[in-house]
Amino acid sequence: MEEHGSFRPALHFSPHKGWLNDPNGLIYHDGLWHLYFQHYPHDTVWGPMHWGHAVSRDLMHWEELPIALYPAGELYRFSGSMVFDRDNTSGMARTGADGTLIPPFAAFYTSHVATGHLESQSVAFSYDGGMTFEDYPGNPIVATPVIDGVPLSDFRDPKVFKNPDTGLWNMTVAAKYYCNFYESSDLIHWNLTSTFTHGFKEITNVWACTDLIPFETCEGRKWVFFASMENKEDQPEPRTMYFVGRFENGTFTPEEKTADPLWIDFGWDNYAGVTFNDCPLSDPVMIGWAVNPRYANQVPTGREGFRGHMTSARKLTLVRTTEGWRLSFSPLGFDMNEDGLSKDQNAVISSPCLIHVHGGEGRLTLKNTEGEHFDVTVTKDAVTIDRSAAGEQDFQMDFGTKAYSFRTVSRLVPADAAGDAGHIGGDRARDIDMTIILDGCLIEVYADGGLETASVNAFPKTPYSLVSAEGGLEVRVSELK
Ligand code: FRU
Repeated sequence: MEEHGSFRPALHFSPHKGWLNDPNGLIYHDGLWHLYFQHYPHDTVWGPMHWGHAVSRDLMHWEELPIALYPAGELYRFSGSMVFDRDNTSGMARTGADGTLIPPFAAFYTSHVATGHLESQSVAFSYDGGMTFEDYPGNPIVATPVIDGVPLSDFRDPKVFKNPDTGLWNMTVAAKYYCNFYESSDLIHWNLTSTFTHGFKEITNVWACTDLIPFETCEGRKWVFFASMENKEDQPEPRTMYFVGRFENGTFTPEEKTADPLWIDFGWDNYAGVTFNDCPLSDPVMIGWAVNPRYANQVPTGREGFRGHMTSARKLTLVRTTEGWRLSFSPLGFDMNEDGLSKDQNAVISSPCLIHVHGGEGRLTLKNTEGEHFDVTVTKDAVTIDRSAAGEQDFQMDFGTKAYSFRTVSRLVPADAAGDAGHIGGDRARDIDMTIILDGCLIEVYADGGLETASVNAFPKTPYSLVSAEGGLEVRVSELK
């Protein structure tokens, strides 16, 4: 086995060995960004769930720490979140040897009982800065709902956060086709305040990994609600939806009415994304699992001893566009400075690198010496990604199909930049700014200031070594260390 092969990303987190899926317990504390994650260390396929743990100071270089939560027999530790109970609202603080109070970290996770598939919400406390955890003896703190005498089978992924409007704790939990919202003053006793679901009749997937975060805008505070949903065969998107609205009295009300759902990413490989608690920046920061669940158990990174890696940590901004309020995403940690880089139609690349793209309409191609290539085509109105000839495909039956090879997204126009006709520059092709991060098997595309973002895995036989721009595009490349 080749542990440091060309598929392993250098600046995106992947576990040293074994399996990874969702990011869990994202929290910033004392200069460190903590990333816990769904982990099975004994194989490169999904198995009894642990919470792995890694930390970073810059969101690019990660240090993997010892496993934080282990399964207990048939009880698996499914996804969840972390808070630091600074004010000891839980009453669970302890007194240290020097007599000072140690406020706990509280990890909220789903207790998944493998036999019977029963799920409830639990909490574990840490007194050593999030390294080790002790289960709360009164678990579960939110019991499985029973509907018409039948326990709900998919009830998971608690996201707990402090509500800036009320000072109380809120929890969102995916409850099959809904999200349940809860409120608490002490992190232990929770009251259901409301439930929410979307109105898109054609979408019947089970929800997972919900999140709810506030944004300060020129129209006051707005809330964005996120829900991931596992894709069925005919649904190639990784499917994390978002809704922009209000959150009042424990009830979420969407305000942006759209004919189709809003997705956070137009690539295939961004799922289960959630945001950091106690984020020190003025904007929220999200990390997603950068592998589509549909083929995650088969991706060829298994040859390098791991399966599963994360997206970059992305700063989220709510932007007023001509279509309404939309999210834009910008990767943190990566130095986007292009000073001193010469622009060209062709450039040599090696992973990891940043590829900056400017110009009008055209096509950008990342290629290797085997004739494999990944393309991004830009028109006035749309961006299309094409991985149909990007590399290995036959490790899984859907990966090479059309639905998993081509995706197009409409380009958004910020309202402030639009002319009277609602678009920039009339008939003239609108210039594009696009940054592409190439890091091992992961390619991330950020176009139009991150209003269109794609996360894509490609598995070329040999690494891409050249980027070429055709039409009105030009590139600048910066290496990453
Ligand atoms: C989403 C998910 C979660 C669950 C976890 C189990 O990918 O299915 O709903 O908590 O993975 O590993």
